[in-house]
Amino acid sequence: MKQVDIVGLGEIVLDWVTEIPHFPKPDEKIDALSENYFPGGVTANYLVAVARLGGLSGFIGAVGDDSYGELLIDDFNKESVDTTNIKKLANKKTPVNFIFVAKGEKTIIQSPHMYTTKIKPHDLNESYIADSKLLHTTNIHQKLTEKALEIAQRNDVNISIDLESQIALRGWSNIKDVLLKADVLLPNKEGAKVITKSDNPKKAAEILVKKGIPIVIITLGSNGVLITTNDFQKRIPTYEIKNIVDTTGAGDTFNGAFSLAYWIKGWDLEKSCIYANAAASLKIQKLGARSGMPNETELKAFLKKHEENYF
Ligand SMILES: Nc1ncnc2c1ncn2[C@@H]1O[C@H](COP(=O)(O)OP(=O)(O)OP(=O)(O)O)[C@@H](O)[C@H]1O
Ligand SMILES: [Mg+2]
Repeated sequence: MKQVDIVGLGEIVLDWVTEIPHFPKPDEKIDALSENYFPGGVTANYLVAVARLGGLSGFIGAVGDDSYGELLIDDFNKESVDTTNIKKLANKKTPVNFIFVAKGEKTIIQSPHMYTTKIKPHDLNESYIADSKLLHTTNIHQKLTEKALEIAQRNDVNISIDLESQIALRGWSNIKDVLLKADVLLPNKEGAKVITKSDNPKKAAEILVKKGIPIVIITLGSNGVLITTNDFQKRIPTYEIKNIVDTTGAGDTFNGAFSLAYWIKGWDLEKSCIYANAAASLKIQKLGARSGMPNETELKAFLKKHEENYF
């Protein structure tokens, strides 16, 4: 088994992506502009973003015993994401998500198998987590997450949590024990809004920090990100991208690049966010969650052009 620095616990799915001219009304039939499938899943994408930029990452979880599962594992292997802790479960289906992209905006319909194709808490490989530097999760499978976080805390492994809005809908009282274990919480604007019931990202972040999460980084789409700690709050704007093709996976790319910069390279929060904004800016110029994720060389070239003084 290869020991990795960043372990991901969460979703791995196949994305069917169609570009459409507009969203159809009920009973309307429209022609798609394109139709493709891509390996996806919030956490799986995140790990690929880390690996493309030279980080050592690995996934803990499960796929179904079907061809989609094979495809997802093969793709991880091609991307150098460690697959030694992925189980293929008999009689379970690999989840498939349906993604509709209309004029650069996406709508996602998530598979119900996401919640049933999973490993059990006692299947967790303790040493794989204990010997890593960061455990990153979305808390999709809460019991499993709780056990993994307990292992991480006991072994001084840092914890980062991506809070998506569907998970935030479970409500603060149901997920606070998980969220309060985060060293960094990475919600998008919607996740932050749902969990705090505040429409204002600045206030939402302050609420979360006051509750005891040391670092909250809210991604704000084209407005960049908002960093909040007990000591400071600062928005880091991002780049103006004219050619936006597909924002699927923008947050995952941001989170992966941020984690590598902050936890592994040891950069400060601001520099790590600039690096991660740049990675996400490259990602959104291609279709599919992973196609546009930059490798180290591509990201360096972009940063050289835009951030001469910083990098
Ligand atoms: N339109 C855009 N222009 C420039 N950068 C963008 C745009 N949309 C997203 N990004 C970049 O991607 C980051 C994450 O985007 P966003 O806040 O939309 O995350 P998200 O909703 O979690 O996305 P995903 O659903 O892909 O996980 C932003 O902080 C920014 O760096
Ligand atoms: Mg996201």
